[in-house]
Amino acid sequence: MNKSIAISPGKVILFGEHFVVRGTKAIVAAIDLYAKAEIEESSWPSEIISEGTEIRGKITQELKVVGSKELEPFARILSVLKNWGFQIAGFKAKISSEIPMSAGLGSSAASAAAFSLSYANLLGYKLNDKELFTLSHEAEKITHGNPSGVDSAAVTYGGILVFKKDVGIISKLKSLFSDKYSLIIADTGIKRSTSVPVRDVLILSEKLWPAVSLIYDASDRIVDLANEAINNEDYETIGTLMNINQGLLNSMGVSSLELEELIYRSRLAGAIGAKLTGAGKGGSAIILAPSNKVDNILDRIKCCSKWASRIKISQEGARIISG
Ligand code: MEV
Repeated sequence: MNKSIAISPGKVILFGEHFVVRGTKAIVAAIDLYAKAEIEESSWPSEIISEGTEIRGKITQELKVVGSKELEPFARILSVLKNWGFQIAGFKAKISSEIPMSAGLGSSAASAAAFSLSYANLLGYKLNDKELFTLSHEAEKITHGNPSGVDSAAVTYGGILVFKKDVGIISKLKSLFSDKYSLIIADTGIKRSTSVPVRDVLILSEKLWPAVSLIYDASDRIVDLANEAINNEDYETIGTLMNINQGLLNSMGVSSLELEELIYRSRLAGAIGAKLTGAGKGGSAIILAPSNKVDNILDRIKCCSKWASRIKISQEGARIISG
């Protein structure tokens, strides 16, 4: 029987989340935590199971979801493929993921990308990057309502990207790592949907735009300076800019006591930069530290994180691994 398997990395936003939704630039990196979609031919109604979660159900030939509403983004992907002229066939899909859900690490964009690649491959078609980005982004519109596309870009193209909504990738940066500096992710364990903080930030920005527009401008300048600092491997400046970016996000109301505790503990334990990553109000923090301080930081944030770990950038985006 025909079977196809694809994987997709998750992501961290290094600079500019939220502000990117209204058109400023952001810097995003694909990370070495992966979602996997294993799909085989079957009959209608098709079946999707997300391992380790309660998300499961069926999708009928008319592309109606029966079961968890979290399957709607996958039905949307099928519907776009159908509009593109694909002969949609029945299938059985198993989605599994190392990326924690609702933690700001791109789990939904990654699952959508892995599913899209694997399913199109099963139909005998290799999606190009633009098609893959579009499918993941369409799925994200169902999941989050108003995505900028930054998550879908990261999981599609991999590496470290400067991204702008409606423009796409402005540039791909070289890797952030030397032996001397490391990135750590720490998850508060507080789950939240991306759509709520995104909506709240948009409401605040509309209400107080004459003042808040300056914060958006500051975020855009931070991205420019961070871009330069990454190219120059100037880690101290990258860290300082992360801390300033955190201040901007805090001023927009998307930090939380739990995130601030992780951030301050990390800085006190030797991090040179620490900020929330993704939508905030829970979710994860990203921490930049000299490598010789990593163990100390992990020890100091053990108390207040669900998990924390050193991560690496995934230079590659989503890809087929079998079939
Ligand atoms: C979510 O990972 C990033 C946000 O900026 C939303 C978006 O850009 O779609 C909060």
